[in-house]
Amino acid sequence: MSGKGFQEGVETVRGGVFIETYGCQMNLVDSEIVMAMLEERGYQRVDRAEQAEVVLINTCAIREHAESKAISNIGRFGALKKRNPETRIGVLGCLSKHASSEIAKQLPFLDWVMGPDVYRRLPALLLEPPPEVPLIFPKGSPNELYDDILPARREGTNAWVTITRGCNNRCTYCVVPAVRGEERHRPVESILREAREAVEEGFVQITLLGQNVNSYAHEGTDFPDLMEQVAAIPGLKRLRFMTSHPKDCSDKLLDVLAKGLPVCPELHLPVQAGGDSVLKRMGRKYTSDHYRSLAAKAREKVPGLLLSTDIIVGFPGESEADFRETVRLVEEMEYDNAFVYKYSERPNTPAAKLEDDVPDGEKVRRLMELNDIIQASGQRNRLRQVGQVHPVLVEGPSPKKPEEAIGRTPSGHMIVFPGTPEFGSELWVRVKKLSGMTLRGEIVDKPSS
Ligand code: SAH
Ligand code: SF4
Ligand code: F3S
Repeated sequence: MSGKGFQEGVETVRGGVFIETYGCQMNLVDSEIVMAMLEERGYQRVDRAEQAEVVLINTCAIREHAESKAISNIGRFGALKKRNPETRIGVLGCLSKHASSEIAKQLPFLDWVMGPDVYRRLPALLLEPPPEVPLIFPKGSPNELYDDILPARREGTNAWVTITRGCNNRCTYCVVPAVRGEERHRPVESILREAREAVEEGFVQITLLGQNVNSYAHEGTDFPDLMEQVAAIPGLKRLRFMTSHPKDCSDKLLDVLAKGLPVCPELHLPVQAGGDSVLKRMGRKYTSDHYRSLAAKAREKVPGLLLSTDIIVGFPGESEADFRETVRLVEEMEYDNAFVYKYSERPNTPAAKLEDDVPDGEKVRRLMELNDIIQASGQRNRLRQVGQVHPVLVEGPSPKKPEEAIGRTPSGHMIVFPGTPEFGSELWVRVKKLSGMTLRGEIVDKPSS
């Protein structure tokens, strides 16, 4: 047997768990939560699937491409089961009920297929004999927050801390509300506890996570209040967050952003489209003018702000004129960075009832046009950094040249500079030049004022 890419003769590690994670940071944290639950019961993480007794694949369904990539990759794990029938293989994550049944049918070697709110069942399932046919658990507790579980983080400077799960926004194209359920908010105290513990462990940067962080509310504490409380944690050097929905991003939040470190001047504000009729059909609940004035206010209030966005091209009915509106907005915004996606019809979403009428070639053309504009504005913004001096958080040695270090400016620009400073430390760096898309700098003394 070829092992389909798996190396023969690799020894299994007792209690070894291999997790492969697709999708967004929410999934990344969920994998850390699952790992924490299993580590508590004596399992251990392994880096290669061949070493594992338990293989878990945490999937994403945001676009068809993401979903089919995950599904085709699951297939290859069948070889492991053939080699060792004791191997337990589970699919986790954001799959629709329909996709879960399909996967279970197509890949009978699987043990379980489970949605994001079911993971507490995993340790008990591992103690049961392998099921004859894949067991499907699409929905767990609608109130699940995994609040008592400290994610098993790996090394790095950044700890992702989830503040909400699920989403109530029901953007018409989006599968998240269906697969992750109603929005729930973690209590302030448990967020603070987790953030404090992470900082004590050396994760000097915290990124608060939610599908729409601005809607956070718990017993009178809103998101800007929460940011202030997290920012006050001793030892915390950087505080970031994602994602902000333009309909709920408040002046109060911009005021907190303007206060400076540890709060970083960075705002990921997905616009999705620039034409009002498309925005309306997407169910985004704001107009392009609202977005423009919000972005202008953010730039004015927050010095050195890094502004980024997400855009979908080729939403059903997006005409050339609608697309030109998006181009106009993107040109005005001078984004630092953006993720542009081709619209992908998702089963059972409201937009799936509309005809997916923009041909793929046209979607590609629109995507490339936007990417060119964003690439150019990002480059202009990076060039503007040259000559500036920033407090940089060191992320580690440069993978290519160990005598150089990489770090990040408060707004989130990556910078490379000579030296071997300690990982997680903060030092002052002057930006000397832009080479390609990389900022290069040199360590300087802390400015006196
Ligand atoms: N909650 C976040 C984003 C979550 S998904 C927000 O609302 O900003 C990340 C991005 O994927 C979205 O911003 C959107 O641009 C894109 N996306 C979501 N559904 C999509 C679909 N059906 N087709 C293409 N892109 C999609
Ligand atoms: Fe999806 Fe909209 Fe919720 Fe973001 S805000 S997760 S795009 S429904
Ligand atoms: Fe994230 Fe994908 Fe689920 S983007 S919330 S992992 S559908």
